[in-house]
Amino acid sequence: MKYSIKAGATDKINSDCIAVVVWNKGSLSEEAQLADKVSNKGISKIVRSEDFTGTLGQTQLIYNPIGLKSKRLLLVGGGESKQLDAKNTTRMLTAALSAVFASNAASVHFAIASLQVKDETPAWICQRLAQEAETASYRYNATKSKKSKAVSANLISVSPAKGARRKSLEEAFKSGSAIGAGINRARHLGNLPGNVCTPSYLADEATAIGNQHGSMTVKILGEKQMNRLKMGSLLSVSAGSAEEAKLIVMEYRGAKADSKPHVLVGKGVTFDTGGISLKGGAGMDEMKFDMCGAASVIGAMATVAQLKLPINIVGLVGAVENMPSSTATKPGDIVTSMAGKTIEVLNTDAEGRLVLCDVLTYAERYKPRSVIDIATLTGAAVATFGSVVTAMLSNDEKLAKSLIDCGQNSLDRVWQLPLWEEYQPLLNSNFADIANIGGPRAGTITAACFLSRFAEKFKWAHLDIAGSAWHSGARKGATGRPVALLVEYLSQQKA
Ligand code: BES
Ligand code: MN
Ligand code: ZN
Repeated sequence: MKYSIKAGATDKINSDCIAVVVWNKGSLSEEAQLADKVSNKGISKIVRSEDFTGTLGQTQLIYNPIGLKSKRLLLVGGGESKQLDAKNTTRMLTAALSAVFASNAASVHFAIASLQVKDETPAWICQRLAQEAETASYRYNATKSKKSKAVSANLISVSPAKGARRKSLEEAFKSGSAIGAGINRARHLGNLPGNVCTPSYLADEATAIGNQHGSMTVKILGEKQMNRLKMGSLLSVSAGSAEEAKLIVMEYRGAKADSKPHVLVGKGVTFDTGGISLKGGAGMDEMKFDMCGAASVIGAMATVAQLKLPINIVGLVGAVENMPSSTATKPGDIVTSMAGKTIEVLNTDAEGRLVLCDVLTYAERYKPRSVIDIATLTGAAVATFGSVVTAMLSNDEKLAKSLIDCGQNSLDRVWQLPLWEEYQPLLNSNFADIANIGGPRAGTITAACFLSRFAEKFKWAHLDIAGSAWHSGARKGATGRPVALLVEYLSQQKA
């Protein structure tokens, strides 16, 4: 998609489609008023028919509009103009984009110079538009013999808001489209089936991103190297799989070498059968999405490199497949983690934490400013929050608050659960330092408690994206969350 700022009156713009905003009950934006005037009150007549009244997200496409140079006119409902905040604006823009993308228009102009969004700048509107345009044009085709048609539109232009610097609007397009591309990359990796998207596939994807950016180096550690590091916990998860486990290390350098990095850690279970504690059959296909944390780390790393953020960032992914076999770890087996703590594996389906704990220990070598892990960790998080919001737990209140704020700003929200010490004894084991499950209650919290034992040396937050990472049912597919949140958080950090 190409983006540009294009000045000119609504009737003089020559585009395949021109979009104007109509407010609730048919009150016309400045640009819609002009289109109404040159079309002999054409818009007023539509509004009077009450077919289109301007409720938020409503759209109406008009062909060969009178008095306009553009071939199509798209009326976009903005709802109550006084209530147009970031969230509603995004809803309005995505509705407009899906109407345009459903048509054959090759270009679209948004005549929205007069648009004002509560607490947001004109640059924000451009950034959001570009991000939504990228994600709305994503189509999954990789494993279909008949490819779905790509959207026709490949040019998006916007009228410059009064007083806005053209340069800042153009920059906003770039960052919005880089975020959208990162989200799409994460979605795509998530959507690929488990027989394609293996640990090696994730490693190759990360390596390819590293090769595209001089500022990034990517290292892949295999099982032999992880054995040498004594990552007995991570390796116990892949013990039953023919696929080799990989530790993916992506180091992005946007600041001086001695500037301590922020670290992202992703759960990359490319398929989770449950292992010997085998899952039930219903819906098990969705466990191909159990690497969505890893996908969000890889997507976010690609975006930060493209945005050239002025800080150092490390992305770590523990990539494994969780399978039952005669070599698989069994319930009751005790493994020794890289940190030296022994773990009683009471349930081989609680494998995400076994992977993450060793990667968190690996992260210590960076003396990180902050560590955020992202994981489809517990069914309990789905039960608690559904798909609306990501569960977040942290050992640092400032970090937790900042993530909540970044979630609001990016519309990729997180909400905090307590990590209180009262929950810790649920992980006691009679035979090892710690058990890998805490019983049937408070599952998201006890999973985070387990991880917290391996995150004592840095400021750390855990994002349980089990509910937010993908949709089930007719819209089955990965969401690319929380790439937008992670990029927002990293964009706010200073070297
Ligand atoms: N990947 C699953 C968590 C999951 C389940 C995510 C369903 C999304 C939907 C994870 O590895 C798992 O199996 N967790 C168990 C832990 C339990 C055995 C303590 C769970 O949540 O049931
Ligand atoms: Mn599991
Ligand atoms: Zn899992």
